Amino acid sequence: MAAPLLLVPSDPLAPRAPDEHFAREVEAARGGGLTVAVVDHDAVVAGELPAAVRQVPASDVARTAWYRGWMICSSAYARLGSALEARGVRLLTSPAAYAAAHELPGWYDAFAGSTPASVWSPWEPGRTPTPADVGPLLETLGGGPGVVKDYVKSRKHEWDEACYVPDLADINTATRVVARMVELQGDGLAGGIVVRAFEPFVTDGGRAQEVRVWWVLGAPALVTPHPDAPAGSDADVPAGVLDAVGRNVAALGAPFVTTDLALRADGVWRVIEVGDGQVSDLPGGQDPAPLLRALAAAG
Ligand SMILES: Nc1ncnc2c1ncn2[C@@H]1O[C@H](COP(=O)(O)OP(=O)(O)OP(=O)(O)O)[C@@H](O)[C@H]1O
Ligand SMILES: [Mg+2]
Repeated sequence: MAAPLLLVPSDPLAPRAPDEHFAREVEAARGGGLTVAVVDHDAVVAGELPAAVRQVPASDVARTAWYRGWMICSSAYARLGSALEARGVRLLTSPAAYAAAHELPGWYDAFAGSTPASVWSPWEPGRTPTPADVGPLLETLGGGPGVVKDYVKSRKHEWDEACYVPDLADINTATRVVARMVELQGDGLAGGIVVRAFEPFVTDGGRAQEVRVWWVLGAPALVTPHPDAPAGSDADVPAGVLDAVGRNVAALGAPFVTTDLALRADGVWRVIEVGDGQVSDLPGGQDPAPLLRALAAAG
């Protein structure tokens, strides 16, 4: 059985080469026995398949592949999967598993109890929500502070205007924040609206200090700071916490995922966010070798 491929985005200025952002991972992948091929990210997003995968070696023998690249929406990932199948290549993360790990409604049930209570509703980009839309959505959360995002991403850098709601019982303010989030996400709004109960985390003076755990086939392959954390941040999680989150990861069933964990002020570790490992970012200075070794072994 041939080693799995690692697919990475091509460099837009040198289309035969991997994007510089993934250069260290490419080097580590080759060192770990993976064969690397490039896909054209912009073409994937534009729906220009099969052109997007024309540099992936076609094979009569079934081959498997991991992807490491920029975030793409679940439907683009599914298109990528079909175009690769036509070349005899099967993504080890199925489109269904990608959607489950990538979008909050997909992973929430597997992590219920470990992650802040959340509600969601599908939403069309560009449509402005009203109190009549937002009020019923918030009913089960009750009052208290909340955090707003789409199925994948928040506007955390526009915290006061488009992310944080001081009191979810104040439907007009909640609607204003949700509407601003929808407006700022524009056409990029992923899936719909998510509202989460705010929990007080240990912070670095601003936002929660998060540790990202990288799971390959249910085992923790690497633990890093969140990529936005200040350089030199800690990345330690107690073994018992890893065991507990590992059970959530097993319940989700996706083969390559990240979990962003943070310590709540009362000393309980919580899962802030789950992501598909293929499109989660590594901190700049991080040695990717342990991750690529795990991906090679899991192929
Ligand atoms: N329920 C919550 N309670 C308290 N703070 C939260 C909550 N949810 C999110 N946050 C804060 O908001 C930030 C952004 O939230 P989240 O990670 O869900 O969004 P994101 O835009 O996907 O971020 P990322 O850059 O990690 O992809 C978190 O890093 C955390 O500091
Ligand atoms: Mg996050």
